[in-house]
Amino acid sequence: MYRLVSACVNKMGKMACMLNEPTISSNGVVRPTAVTVNLSRITENYRAVETAVASAKVMAVLKANAYGHGLVPVARHMVSLGAPYLGVAFLEEGIMLREAGIETPILVMGGILGNQIPLFLRHNLTLTASSVDKLTQIDAAAKAMGVVAKVHLKIDTGMERIGVHYYSAHTLLEAALGCTNSYVEGIYSHFANADTADLSSARVQLARFQQVLAFYEEREIPRPPLCHMANSGAILQLPEAHFDMVRAGIVLYGVYPSAEVRQTIAVRPALSWKSHVVYFKVVQPDHPVSYGSTWQTDHMVRVVTVPVGYGDGYFRSMSNRAEVIIRGKRYPMVGRVCMDQIMVNIEWDSAYNDDEVILIGESGAAAIRCEDLAAWAGTIPYEVLTNINTRVPRVYKIED
Ligand SMILES: Cc1ncc(COP(=O)(O)O)c(C=O)c1O
Repeated sequence: MYRLVSACVNKMGKMACMLNEPTISSNGVVRPTAVTVNLSRITENYRAVETAVASAKVMAVLKANAYGHGLVPVARHMVSLGAPYLGVAFLEEGIMLREAGIETPILVMGGILGNQIPLFLRHNLTLTASSVDKLTQIDAAAKAMGVVAKVHLKIDTGMERIGVHYYSAHTLLEAALGCTNSYVEGIYSHFANADTADLSSARVQLARFQQVLAFYEEREIPRPPLCHMANSGAILQLPEAHFDMVRAGIVLYGVYPSAEVRQTIAVRPALSWKSHVVYFKVVQPDHPVSYGSTWQTDHMVRVVTVPVGYGDGYFRSMSNRAEVIIRGKRYPMVGRVCMDQIMVNIEWDSAYNDDEVILIGESGAAAIRCEDLAAWAGTIPYEVLTNINTRVPRVYKIED
């Protein structure tokens, strides 16, 4: 049994309707296709990570619409669980959270441009200083505005994305000591390969980060209070990389970062994605289905149409590969995925208009995971989740 707790959300946190009713999009149209987010599962996953990382804090990573689960509702839930820090990729995501009234510290992990800095400061967002130049700009902007900027220094230990290289990091750490209007609360790095079976490259990155941190010991000055490096892969596999805080993303949503990662913490998926049959027909032998006629019958079958498509984030590359669950049984979708519709071959079984169609989720012993969609689409679970379009309403439930 469960309780529906809030409204469906269409645009990154905008409430669109009350629950226990059909899901309604922002323009008031009833949509039979919706994502349900089980907040109780997020609670369980968060607590499991907290327990596993012992004294380290758990930052909840909420970028990309909280991995497709809905930025603001998930952020509110994380705050209610006591998450001490939230992490986003972009300034805009941080501002959305502040505008929703969230006061928890927020680290914006992406690269920044000089003209964005005043907005960071106005919204009390923690900035990532990824070079001496950026740090200097942040400090000068903070001085001009008469505030103190909260900053985390970013060290590149092998990802080659943003951050000062580990071998020249001392220039950034040195510059930070001379800042007048910046509080260096944190220093961090990011793993490129913490979710693989072979952790040798992750260990090299970890050793480089530790070598950078030795700067503080050598100078006999305290290091910033929040050193952090671990994403989900390292949370699961590299306890020595937990430091003061871990940055937990996909694992909080109940999905493992890869098939080969060791599943040392038990988590369960929070997201399900369901639609309903809107049309039923019998297709005669030798009749093709959908654009391009890539699939055709060789005997008479029953085919149902389901109102979901690549315009919702149901990848077109899953054409003729994906499966769905109807009435507890798996069936193949046939023909190309259209922008808004797919067709499913139920052979000679029964299905009726309005029957539930599970795209991601469980029904008795049958389950379709986002990992399955990732395999059919030739991608990773991260992309499956973050690709679910905002036109798909999000519904939130709590289990009793
Ligand atoms: C800098 C940074 N930290 C943490 C994370 C969270 O990663 P994961 O979802 O694998 O836990 C990400 C996501 O890619 C990231 O870019």
